[in-house]
Amino acid sequence: MTMLAALLLLCCRLLPSSNTATATPTPKIDRKHVVSRFNPTRNASSPTTPMQVGNGDFAFGADITGLQTFLPFGTLSSWGWHNASLPTTPGQTAPEDFTGLDWWTHGRLVNYDQPNPAEPEISQWLIANPHRINLGRVGFVFFDRQGRGNLNVSEEDLTGRFQQLDLYSGTLTSQFSVNGTAVTVQTWVDPGSDTVAVKVRSELLARGQLGFFFDYPYATGESKFEAPFVGRWDAVEKHRTELSVSRWGKQARIMHQMDNTTYYTLLRWEGRGASITGPLEGSHRYILQLDIGQDSFELTATFSPSSDCKIPTSVDYVNHASTRWWKDYWETGAFIDLTATGNATAIEIQRRIILSQYLLAVNEAGRDPPQESGLVNNGWYGKFHMEMYLWHSAHWIPWRKTPLLRRSIGVYDRFLPSSIERARHQGYDGARWGKMSDPTGRSAPGEINSLLIWQQPHVFYFAEMEYKYAVANGHHEEQKSVLQKWDNILTESANFMTSFAFWNESTGVYDLGPPMYPASENTPPNGTTNPTFELAYWRFGLGIAATWKKRLGQPVPETWTHVAEHLALLPTTSSPATDNKTTYTVYEGISHMWTDPETVSDHPALVAAYGLLPPSPALNKPIISATAAQVARTWNFTDCWGWDFPMLAMTAARLGDVDAAVAYLVNENFAFDDVGMPVGPAGKAPTPYFPGSGGLLLAVGMLAGGWGGIGEPGEKGYGNGEYGRAPGFPVEWDVRAEGFVGVL
Ligand SMILES: *[C@@H]1O[C@H](CO)[C@@H](O)[C@H](O)[C@H]1NC(C)=O
Ligand SMILES: *[C@@H]1O[C@H](CO)[C@@H](O)[C@H](O)[C@H]1NC(C)=O
Ligand SMILES: *[C@@H]1O[C@H](CO)[C@@H](O)[C@H](O)[C@H]1NC(C)=O
Ligand SMILES: *[C@@H]1O[C@H](CO)[C@@H](O)[C@H](O)[C@H]1NC(C)=O
Ligand SMILES: *[C@@H]1O[C@H](CO)[C@@H](O)[C@H](O)[C@H]1NC(C)=O
Ligand SMILES: *[C@@H]1O[C@H](CO)[C@@H](O)[C@H](O)[C@H]1NC(C)=O
Ligand SMILES: *[C@@H]1O[C@H](CO)[C@@H](O)[C@H](O)[C@H]1NC(C)=O
Ligand SMILES: *[C@@H]1O[C@H](CO)[C@@H](O)[C@H](O)[C@H]1NC(C)=O
Repeated sequence: MTMLAALLLLCCRLLPSSNTATATPTPKIDRKHVVSRFNPTRNASSPTTPMQVGNGDFAFGADITGLQTFLPFGTLSSWGWHNASLPTTPGQTAPEDFTGLDWWTHGRLVNYDQPNPAEPEISQWLIANPHRINLGRVGFVFFDRQGRGNLNVSEEDLTGRFQQLDLYSGTLTSQFSVNGTAVTVQTWVDPGSDTVAVKVRSELLARGQLGFFFDYPYATGESKFEAPFVGRWDAVEKHRTELSVSRWGKQARIMHQMDNTTYYTLLRWEGRGASITGPLEGSHRYILQLDIGQDSFELTATFSPSSDCKIPTSVDYVNHASTRWWKDYWETGAFIDLTATGNATAIEIQRRIILSQYLLAVNEAGRDPPQESGLVNNGWYGKFHMEMYLWHSAHWIPWRKTPLLRRSIGVYDRFLPSSIERARHQGYDGARWGKMSDPTGRSAPGEINSLLIWQQPHVFYFAEMEYKYAVANGHHEEQKSVLQKWDNILTESANFMTSFAFWNESTGVYDLGPPMYPASENTPPNGTTNPTFELAYWRFGLGIAATWKKRLGQPVPETWTHVAEHLALLPTTSSPATDNKTTYTVYEGISHMWTDPETVSDHPALVAAYGLLPPSPALNKPIISATAAQVARTWNFTDCWGWDFPMLAMTAARLGDVDAAVAYLVNENFAFDDVGMPVGPAGKAPTPYFPGSGGLLLAVGMLAGGWGGIGEPGEKGYGNGEYGRAPGFPVEWDVRAEGFVGVL
């Protein structure tokens, strides 16, 4: 037994045998101090991103007023989705009418979910439906001294604007003055329900000059991207709202119906009388006007698909619940503090870390994998991408916040039957995971969508990391349950991966593709074979599959072993462009690898074979080193996407170049705005593009917690969560890290 294993055993004896699975040692870093230093402030609304409060399944985007008074930022959820009516073209009136396309695949026709030019309407309907909806808008209305509303007040009319988000308690405080009278607004979201709570203080309230509006947009699948705002406000006749006011007062409910989607907003207020009326002519806007009297007002708005939402709530309750939840969030799990380093890069990385920690808990800790823009606005119709799930969410494990990952990881169980059916329909064994998905698990038609394969081995990464986490926690029961819960999913995944690999008689190896798309989605699919990253990932996945069976005391299927041992070698090239050094290539036989502008753009995923993935005998270190150097020299980084930079940082760290690792984390093409929203890649996706934030935290988890390859309890690399130096940061930096679980 190694020393570390002995320590782990000792630790687990001393720990209480709770099931909370956040066995972090007592924090030594003054976390509140570090977190609060990065509280974002604004004195004007940003035209592109809101300040946000939320709970992972529901988030509220606010403008400078703390509500959505001037800008209709989103109120998005995990559960709010809408279908447009189905096409009426004969033969294209139901999802079942869609037939996709057949492509030759190793001598046989395989049916892929690709838009069929003969079925354009139903193809497009399946891409755009269901789409995520903006649940509604809450803002201030201003009245004059005579109580006349609808004043033409704009943000510029407000003076003394100042807004601060207190990250440590999840409280957004906004202050401004109207004609010299101050208004203070506090906004929270309940961690346990989809409730936004608002507390307002102002003389304007006492004079009846400040009230609220509630408004509802229609949802359409007209645009792939809806940013910065979601929904249509000019299609009033297409949807319906209905107000019911409680007979006992201080409570009202607004029903919103759009085609087959119906949900409710339950409004509750405290302390004084108010009357709600509406909708205003030609709109779905309702007005809450307060009785003259006190100078404070408290309002909660709970959004729910259920008409009899009985969640007891109040502003006080939400305030306390939010404060408790966020304190626990910051004080448990891992933490890193780079602020003692007097280096601007270190401080900027710390800012990105803290703001990403906040925004990922607000936007990406829900019951489904997150969409690229979280709960801020819509991209790809609000759907989520199974290949991006890892970059969004794997970081929870090294940061020892696995319970937040467990809210959504059940997606693999839920989608297993439809994924088995997808594989069966195409003549493969096992489960083929889909791509661009809605909560039902249907994968949207698309040429790239249907031909990407790198989402398949993600289950092995998640499973192995979860096992590693259980080991780090020293909970034997948790280890056993992790092994059990993933067994079926891993088995079906490995079965697909082995049946997908094509035995090439003439070369005596298994090939991946064609047709296929690698992670960099810019190669000719019918000519793409054996991409470096996918080959490495297949080998990694099948390796874990076998290890899993051994841990469970079960036999390893021979086909798995045969495929794993006979996968094609990673493709290489060497030419004057690489100073005749050997490098890996994106895929086998690619021409002009380092000289064609097209091949050195998009995701440089070939480096992830040694960066995201642990060392493997199939990978040659001098070659990966030359490849990383060649990428650094020739890649078109302006054409990269957020997560590419953390991926490059992880590779650099594993190669021992920690200066390059931290430089990638602040690369000029990897930007975060003033409130920490990861800026979308120019011309490709709007801000925010959250795989950048998730990737950042995964990379930081690695740099802080270390990396150790795959192993058994007690072997090198199983982070023990002790306070100490982080191996992936420059030695000159003063780095304090605690609680991390190392990555694979
Ligand atoms: C708003 O903030 C900016 C940046 O912090 C500052 O330069 C500017 O003076 C502030 N304006 C007001 C009106 O406070
Ligand atoms: C949209 O329609 C599809 C196909 O009929 C169905 O599976 C899904 O549940 C519907 N979603 C919503 C939000 O209505
Ligand atoms: C709405 O629901 C009805 C009844 O279930 C169904 O027939 C119709 O196809 C649905 N509409 C859409 C757009 O999904
Ligand atoms: C790939 O081959 C299929 C036939 O198997 C063809 O229909 C398709 O257009 C080809 N795709 C491209 C991008 O060339
Ligand atoms: C501020 O005062 C001006 C002048 O009296 C008036 O026209 C305007 O409506 C007031 N604004 C608000 C929001 O009450
Ligand atoms: C910050 O640290 C990095 C990595 O060690 C180094 O390259 C950079 O020069 C430092 N910057 C300053 C301003 O000291
Ligand atoms: C076998 O591999 C060779 C070399 O990569 C390739 O040219 C050939 O097309 C493959 N055979 C089949 C049947 O795919
Ligand atoms: C790099 O990518 C950007 C963005 O896609 C593009 O505009 C530019 O032309 C590319 N540069 C080269 C040298 O290909």
